[in-house]
Amino acid sequence: MAKLETMFDVRGKSVIVTGGASGIGRAYAEILAEHGAKVCIFDIDPEGLDRTVAEIGGDTWGQAVDVGDRPAMAAAFDAVAERHGGIDTVFANAGIDPGPGFMTVEGERFADGEIENIPDDQWDRGIEINLTSVYTTVKNAVRHMKPGKGGEIIVTSSIAGLINESIVGTSYMPAKAAVNHFVRHMAMELGAYGIRVNAILPGPFITNIAGGRLRNKADRAAFEAQSLIGRIGDVEDIKGLALLLSSPAGAYFTGSLIVIDGGALNRLT
Ligand SMILES: NC(=O)c1ccc[n+]([C@@H]2O[C@H](COP(=O)([O-])OP(=O)(O)OC[C@H]3O[C@@H](n4cnc5c(N)ncnc54)[C@H](O)[C@@H]3O)[C@@H](O)[C@H]2O)c1
Repeated sequence: MAKLETMFDVRGKSVIVTGGASGIGRAYAEILAEHGAKVCIFDIDPEGLDRTVAEIGGDTWGQAVDVGDRPAMAAAFDAVAERHGGIDTVFANAGIDPGPGFMTVEGERFADGEIENIPDDQWDRGIEINLTSVYTTVKNAVRHMKPGKGGEIIVTSSIAGLINESIVGTSYMPAKAAVNHFVRHMAMELGAYGIRVNAILPGPFITNIAGGRLRNKADRAAFEAQSLIGRIGDVEDIKGLALLLSSPAGAYFTGSLIVIDGGALNRLT
């Protein structure tokens, strides 16, 4: 029988986490670094990045990159491959709530979020960061993994790719739904190269997304009411899944969309 430490061994792995200076991505970086991986965080927020890298310590380092900037992403991946001697595990995690939804958390209509009022650049940025950047991240990961011994790609999607949310910016739901389909398609294409591709679909977690609104009482209560276990997610809750999918214990997962939501989807569908 495999020992626990062998099953979940990520020591020495070369790991990239996009959007790893905060929230869910930071949790991925922490758990992998704590268990001996070499982690490079990509983030658009240079101060948050420096702070996070210093707090995590170990072999962790960072690059200030906008995941929407294709040449910068290619260069950042090359820099990791050069410094780590390859790339084993990539978390395509960076994402944004593109703007207000058409309802408020109190259940009122919100004109700014209604379709005819959405600024086109808000839609475009939502699709660019929540969908196109996943394509860019996977493309660069594969460029480095194919000539090597394969690898794992883990995409942070959302339960909003399975259901609609009236209080989240409109482009978020179609972007995450497309991400889910893309993950399954990539798993089909890349399995032959020993590259596993999976998606984590969180329900509500307390992070800095949407200005950290889940820390507000009303927003928090609305989302807590969806949970079957009476609370919303803490980023600590996601670490076990991240470790599973990036270690030998997760070797048979590919093309999986794994929901982690305290049961919210059960109530919502
Ligand atoms: N928090 C939730 O309730 C929740 C639920 C479902 C899915 N998600 C998904 O989880 C992922 C992480 O979000 P989070 O909740 O941890 O949010 P967060 O805001 O706490 O963290 C996101 C990080 O991504 C970085 N980032 C944003 N735009 C970027 C860009 N263009 N380039 C590089 N970095 C960028 C931010 O600076 C930040 O450090 C996202 O894909 C989000 O859609 C979150």
